[in-house]
Amino acid sequence: MTKITFLNLGNQPLANNYLSKKNINKKEKKYQLNVCVDKKTNLVSIKKTFSSKTMFNNKYPYRSSMSKTMTKSFKTLAQYIKKKYKPNIVLEIGSNDGAFIKNFKKNKTIGIEPCSNIEKLTKKLNYNTFSDYWSKKLAKKILKKFGKVDLIYSANTISHIKNLNEVFNAINVVLNDEGILIIEDPSLLECIKRNTYDQFYNEHIYVFSTIALENILKLHNLQIFKIEKLNIHGGSNRYFIKKSFSKRKINNSVIFNKKKENDYGLKKIITYRKFASRVKLSKIKLNKILSKIKKDNQKIIGYGATAKSTTILNYCNIGNTKIEYFLDTTKDKQNKYTPGTKIPILKYNNLIDDNIKYVFLGAWNFKNEIFKKEKVFIKRGGKFITHTPFPRII
Ligand code: TYD
Repeated sequence: MTKITFLNLGNQPLANNYLSKKNINKKEKKYQLNVCVDKKTNLVSIKKTFSSKTMFNNKYPYRSSMSKTMTKSFKTLAQYIKKKYKPNIVLEIGSNDGAFIKNFKKNKTIGIEPCSNIEKLTKKLNYNTFSDYWSKKLAKKILKKFGKVDLIYSANTISHIKNLNEVFNAINVVLNDEGILIIEDPSLLECIKRNTYDQFYNEHIYVFSTIALENILKLHNLQIFKIEKLNIHGGSNRYFIKKSFSKRKINNSVIFNKKKENDYGLKKIITYRKFASRVKLSKIKLNKILSKIKKDNQKIIGYGATAKSTTILNYCNIGNTKIEYFLDTTKDKQNKYTPGTKIPILKYNNLIDDNIKYVFLGAWNFKNEIFKKEKVFIKRGGKFITHTPFPRII
């Protein structure tokens, strides 16, 4: 076995499986959430995986456009791509509700989005979108219809697909020889440094490091030539990738990132074991904070019923006796209950109730955006509770 398990996050439900009132007493599908590292490639992944169809179907609730941070980031990148690379056509793998492709002319983009409930939002607007899983077969279909593409983009999607060989083989089918692949996903280094163990759940099959991604890409004659560090999702990397034979210059950021990961110890198992110990402590500390607030007869609510918080709530055994309810802007999550822990999710009506002083930050990755929005709450002495980089009240 080349894989070493280093973290056990307990019995977990499917992270985006919000429960309707009707289903609240039905038995939920649960699994053991273990995280492991491959000794050969250094690739970090969850151990038990589910089929894409189980996770990404016509009930998928996630919408990229729900956060200003994301729409702004997509817009800035689209402008950069247009100016710098002038691509004939841009293909996006995981186009969700079109937050990225909407920055391009309709005849200049192709979107791939397997969740048909979301794909139809862009189809309706006449964007070239396919409600299908990314595969070699689909890549061939696109090649036939549109020819080769100059640029492929994928944000927070490749790490959700188990078969990376299929992913990159399919990319090679349709990407021009001098074409560019840009992928962005949470960075393993930042995840470990900030103790954001909630990056691990059934949909996040991988959390990539530069070291591991490079090892995988090599097998497909692909090569990272530039890396941008992003503040998105608690620290992500945006990888610019080319075909290995292309003469495009390798930017210093690639060498710099690999050195940083190496120096931190991402090639050593002890680094992962230490992280696991910190996660255990984090659970104890977070529960202590919540218990103390409850003892003082204060109410706690949650802000942003994220998939990530499913991991935290279930791992730390935090249920509706500790958190009264969650507020969320996503329509498909409202009036439902958090998976496993059955905390009600209510519609966010631009205000936090006056009788609430403590708010657990489920969407901690949008902290700046939320703090800006909740000035009134903060001014009246309202406090946020976060688990990253360590459990604390802010
Ligand atoms: P996100 O952290 O992007 O993803 P994941 O579910 O993959 O962990 O989800 C953010 C959630 O938080 C989403 O359900 C929308 C919600 N949200 C709010 O309710 N209010 C806000 O101001 C923001 C930024 C997000």
